Amino acid sequence: MQILSVIGTAVIMAFISCAGASPTHQARDTSSLYPNIADTSHATPALVDFLHDFFTIKSLHDIDGWASYFAPSGDVYFDAIIGFGVDKANMPSAFSQFISQGKPDGRSYPLKIIGDMNSAVVFGEDTPDMFGFETRTIAAVDFKDGKVARWVDYWDGRHDGLIALKSPSDEFPKTFGESNITTTPNPVIQNVTSQLNDALSTGNSIVAASLFSFDAIFEDRTTRTRIEGRNSIQQYLFRALTSVPYGKGTTVRHVVGSSGGGAYEWIGSPTAPTQNGISGFKLDSNGSITKLSTVWDSSQVNNATMEMLVQLAVQL
Ligand SMILES: *[C@@H]1O[C@H](CO)[C@@H](O)[C@H](O)[C@H]1NC(C)=O
Ligand SMILES: *[C@@H]1O[C@H](CO)[C@@H](O)[C@H](O)[C@H]1NC(C)=O
Ligand SMILES: *[C@@H]1O[C@H](CO)[C@@H](O)[C@H](O)[C@H]1NC(C)=O
Ligand SMILES: *[C@@H]1O[C@H](CO)[C@@H](O)[C@H](O)[C@H]1NC(C)=O
Repeated sequence: MQILSVIGTAVIMAFISCAGASPTHQARDTSSLYPNIADTSHATPALVDFLHDFFTIKSLHDIDGWASYFAPSGDVYFDAIIGFGVDKANMPSAFSQFISQGKPDGRSYPLKIIGDMNSAVVFGEDTPDMFGFETRTIAAVDFKDGKVARWVDYWDGRHDGLIALKSPSDEFPKTFGESNITTTPNPVIQNVTSQLNDALSTGNSIVAASLFSFDAIFEDRTTRTRIEGRNSIQQYLFRALTSVPYGKGTTVRHVVGSSGGGAYEWIGSPTAPTQNGISGFKLDSNGSITKLSTVWDSSQVNNATMEMLVQLAVQL
């Protein structure tokens, strides 16, 4: 990993000097390309190093270089919101059309990283100059032999112009390459996920809340609600589980992460406001969830439903 990281930096330095980005030809400190603010407290150093190189080359708008971080087999990059998947060979042509409309200062960087070089969840930011619109993502990531074997981005398209690219519902993919990932998920994350989703999908707020730590935080990034404390989370879930897409009837698509935390991609029931979303979470040393963040696409959900969902956060 150390060696890979050095090679990665060398490639980036070579790219910068070819591009003449630095008029003085001094080696530029690539760590300053984007704000180094990611919470990496629940990530391994090898994963953090890999993602630093990954986001640096993406922020340099070097799509060929970015594609080299992906594995060569099958579709490896997916967007679960517009319903799109691409293999490594076709990544440059698929992305260059968007990125060429961008501006050189556009940046893509991590905000929170949880997991290891088996699998991880990555909270990310694409600034408006990257693809034309600001996009805050939560991605499920699987690795194989040190490369990304599957990266799936989730975000809310309600106020993001990229949603114009969304596939029509009759052409929208039902799967995002999860069946090609055959590695066994981390048993701790698998266990927490099945207990949590069993409780949420059957409307059992008491069992669901028991999986959270006393001071836990539950955050729905789409309704922009944040509930603090296990007791309040239980009461919120009691009110919300029949209406929110990660509640009654939800099933698990795929699980990623390490014993410190992870994420599960979920599939909402057919009557839910949306079918595709992800919930990422950190665990404490007892295996309790300390913070869970979920995101899903509300671009097709009408205003009255959104207002109803937000009101569920209020304890009357
Ligand atoms: C799964 O992997 C196989 C073999 O590499 C590939 O042909 C197929 O396209 C992959 N499926 C997806 C959805 O990527
Ligand atoms: C899963 O969690 C339950 C409840 O904490 C525990 O009893 C069980 O042993 C766990 N199973 C595994 C495989 O860790
Ligand atoms: C873990 O559980 C024990 C026993 O319930 C408790 O005393 C301790 O504070 C917990 N640790 C954390 C980090 O919550
Ligand atoms: C939802 O509310 C916004 C802000 O008032 C408005 O611009 C938009 O047209 C509304 N959408 C629908 C479908 O009513």
